[in-house]
Amino acid sequence: MKVLVVGASGQIGAMSVSDLVASYKADVVAADIDLRRVKEVAKSTNPNRVTPIDLDARDAKAMAKALKGVDVVMNSAWYELNMDIMNAAIKAGVHYTDLGGFYDGTLRQLKLTKKAKDAGVTCVLGIGSTPGITNVCGAAGADRLDSVKDILIYCTWGTKAESTQAGMPAYSIRTVLDEMTQEPGIVENGRKKKVPILSGETSVVMPEPSGEVVAHYIKHSEPATMADFIGKGTKHVSFRIGFPDTDFATFKTLAELGFASEKPLDIGGGCKCSPKDYITAMYTDAVANARKSTEAVDEYDYLRVDVTGRKDRLPARCTYLVRTWNDRKTGLSSARDTSVPPSITANWLATGKIKERGVLPPEACIDPKPFFRELGKRKIRVDEEMQVSSKFY
Ligand SMILES: NC(=O)c1ccc[n+]([C@@H]2O[C@H](COP(=O)([O-])OP(=O)(O)OC[C@H]3O[C@@H](n4cnc5c(N)ncnc54)[C@H](OP(=O)(O)O)[C@@H]3O)[C@@H](O)[C@H]2O)c1
Repeated sequence: MKVLVVGASGQIGAMSVSDLVASYKADVVAADIDLRRVKEVAKSTNPNRVTPIDLDARDAKAMAKALKGVDVVMNSAWYELNMDIMNAAIKAGVHYTDLGGFYDGTLRQLKLTKKAKDAGVTCVLGIGSTPGITNVCGAAGADRLDSVKDILIYCTWGTKAESTQAGMPAYSIRTVLDEMTQEPGIVENGRKKKVPILSGETSVVMPEPSGEVVAHYIKHSEPATMADFIGKGTKHVSFRIGFPDTDFATFKTLAELGFASEKPLDIGGGCKCSPKDYITAMYTDAVANARKSTEAVDEYDYLRVDVTGRKDRLPARCTYLVRTWNDRKTGLSSARDTSVPPSITANWLATGKIKERGVLPPEACIDPKPFFRELGKRKIRVDEEMQVSSKFY
């Protein structure tokens, strides 16, 4: 299997490269806009299997060249590049995965389904942890029920160590800032609608040591697809994040200070830079340095999906708890719950296990049980709890 990974030196891309090689002995073309960083990824993974290349995904000619002879392109770059990379994949007749296009971007990408089908190509959208594992959990829960009312999704993360330090995002700071400044979409009474940023405050119980967390609506792609693709009468779909306190304070402050702005500022000496580009560069460096650190910390990533509805005419609920801890043995962080799903999907696309064609969200083309088992092999643990009612009158 030959996979082109775009954004291969990013926080998620670098871990996907390593999983593709470790789990599938894949030949990987690791592409990134920064050749120096992607060369380091090849060196630290397996230089015999990983070929680093310098690629700007916005350059259609360079993309077409890189796609030659490739089975799957895994897009791990900034989500605003999804449309360019997906179009290039369809044109080249190459299967495609990405990590999510947010709510609006996903709806735009879905419009290309006929084009992808005609090209005999499958484009799996948003196959990370959330979106990704959460969509598959929603589909698995719906399979256990006769009809579905709610699909409520939650996510949190943290460390065992008490900290008052500023938060360091586990994924692109650009995405975090967009989440803090753009209106989320939800499905309410069967209709898609936009709601205010950080509204929908609620308490949810996550596994220990997280416990009860306060969660808010955040812009995400699950509500853009799940009611339509899962069906069964689904009335409500929402996604909420339970930020750890220090992260919430840091990111909210950065957003309020204007770091989400893309408007270039004159910063003197003839130099112009937008606050968002500046903070992205700053965090990219900080994350690359953190990767070199050998200090072992205990950190976790948790997801919860509650699917409620009816079974045999009585109320029923299926809850999925997904737990990922950093792996002390391999040094891999809990963010591998985002990097492993596209690696599994790339393998299933290349080996023909996924037969559906078109532009599809995970709930429409990923078989839950074998997928959860593959996750389990990488210590990403999915537990299912089914609660059914009985009546004695
Ligand atoms: N589904 C999920 O569960 C989930 C979870 C977390 C994140 N995500 C999404 O995953 C995406 C990647 O996240 P991340 O944290 O890995 O981001 P990241 O660390 O910023 O990585 C993105 C990589 O793509 C590179 N890149 C940027 N523009 C490029 C271009 N034109 N051509 C080729 N490469 C380019 C970046 O280089 P520079 O740094 O030099 O720009 C960087 O190395 C984000 O869109 C994020 O929203 C999804």
